[in-house]
Amino acid sequence: MAWRPVLYLIASGAAPARELPAVAAELTGEWDTCVITTPEGSRFFDTGRMAELTGHPVRTSFKDPGAPDILPAASAFAAAPATFNTINKWAAGISDTLALGLLNEAIGLGRPIVTVPWLNAALARHPAFGHSVAILRECGVTVLLDEENLPGDDEQRRVSFPWEQLRAELARIRVTLASGGSSG
Ligand SMILES: Cc1cc2nc3c(=O)[nH]c(=O)nc-3n(C[C@H](O)[C@H](O)[C@H](O)COP(=O)(O)O)c2cc1C
Repeated sequence: MAWRPVLYLIASGAAPARELPAVAAELTGEWDTCVITTPEGSRFFDTGRMAELTGHPVRTSFKDPGAPDILPAASAFAAAPATFNTINKWAAGISDTLALGLLNEAIGLGRPIVTVPWLNAALARHPAFGHSVAILRECGVTVLLDEENLPGDDEQRRVSFPWEQLRAELARIRVTLASGGSSG
């Protein structure tokens, strides 16, 4: 099997999380994929089925003190989909879910991180969101965000989650890791 760095794929409670099992199944050829969700995110897909697909339990809550780590250490992080709520809390350094705790630590560790916020257009215009995205970018997080492609004001306009862009960014990160670099 090909070299597979460890990817923490971190989902929060947005509708595209329903598509995560298919995405994780595709990624497992290239990445040793570990899925973590917020408590809300865990409602969007079958976590038991996801564990079978990835070979790792889906983690949602903090482990008990003294309990061993059940996941290998991460080489890279993908927070996708990321809700308005999770993006704002992450930028503010709040760690009240395991998902946020891992994402906050990831910034401190300097590991490659990509995120795809997914929220409606009205929420995207809230000033806190713009600040949060700017903070995360300053911290070196790659934020894949096209404000013209968000569910929104015009319900007739079809939008789709940019899984392809996420896959392309992960491929780029994997090449950088293979050459021994950090992301950049
Ligand atoms: C069916 C459904 C779809 C949702 N889709 C979104 C979404 O696309 N983006 C978003 O920011 N919140 C969405 N929400 C609301 C979030 O789940 C909610 O704000 C939650 O508190 C987020 O918590 P988390 O960030 O810890 O996952 C959705 C909720 C439901 C029930």
